[in-house]
Amino acid sequence: MIRDWQNKFVVPVLHYELKYRGNFLNDAWWNGELVTEDSIFRFPVRCGIPIFTSLPFNENSIKLLEKFDSRGFFANQLKWIEINWKDAYQIIIKKEISLYVQMAKEVAKRNKLILDIASGLGGGFTPLILYFNKEAKILMNDIEPTVVGAWRIFLHEKNIKNTSFAAFDATRIPIKTNSVDIVVSSGDFGNIPMNYIAFHEVYRILRSKGYLFIADGITYLESFKHLPSLIEIIHDISFALNKIGYREFLEKLGFEIELFETTKESTLSPDEGEFPRLAWKYKVKIKYCGVYIIARKP
Ligand SMILES: C[S@@+](CC[C@H](N)C(=O)[O-])C[C@H]1O[C@@H](n2cnc3c(N)ncnc32)[C@H](O)[C@@H]1O
Repeated sequence: MIRDWQNKFVVPVLHYELKYRGNFLNDAWWNGELVTEDSIFRFPVRCGIPIFTSLPFNENSIKLLEKFDSRGFFANQLKWIEINWKDAYQIIIKKEISLYVQMAKEVAKRNKLILDIASGLGGGFTPLILYFNKEAKILMNDIEPTVVGAWRIFLHEKNIKNTSFAAFDATRIPIKTNSVDIVVSSGDFGNIPMNYIAFHEVYRILRSKGYLFIADGITYLESFKHLPSLIEIIHDISFALNKIGYREFLEKLGFEIELFETTKESTLSPDEGEFPRLAWKYKVKIKYCGVYIIARKP
């Protein structure tokens, strides 16, 4: 966790101040914990990564905290990261999705504090941003600590030093209000249950004149016509915004939309998530289109 991010963390939802207690590697956090002044709230920091997501009471959680520095522990995740990293670079070489690449380039050149939400094993926008600026001060996030743990090892081996990592739930971001310059997300908001809360949190943590860059998908309403209505209800509890495409909701939150572009129609294959898998049981393939958004907090 590089210096620029170190004073940004607070207790999720409560936003109490947190102080780091632990050792450093050069200027960066290494092993320790983040604690409130009264020592009631404590979050472990392993290999510089603060963990804010609750861990199950089992041996795997103990192993995770013990083995955060072990390459072998993250072998499976590293295999996928390697493949996805190569794929991301193919996108640049082939210029397949040029607006996507342009967005990453634009973020990279601004040299600001960037939060990549729900990076996943694909890394979200991060691989492309790092292609254009190896020094970019990105904080990669995922709710799953093994995802960010594996990315740390991968980027460390690539000698990329400025990227930081944190495990937290995007619907309860443990970051101070008005403190981040840019939030990016690629294919993520569509996968975060209750993503409207995550958007609300993103608006809160962005500083005035800060930017949100999104590459995601909008589900077509017609897909639901062929599904039992209870599936649509289950979908809407968590993902209501995916059907209407974020724009109006972002404006309602206060964002100014600077760019909104959709791409051609496509379908989700059943192996791309629980929802398309369930839909496929009713012989329905979910149709969607890609959407690119650049939004500014006034
Ligand atoms: C489809 S993947 C993200 C795609 C990714 N950006 C990529 O480039 O491949 C979804 C990721 O979101 C993470 N996730 C789901 N809910 C989340 C939440 N509430 N907060 C943070 N991450 C979340 C999952 O752990 C998973 O790694």
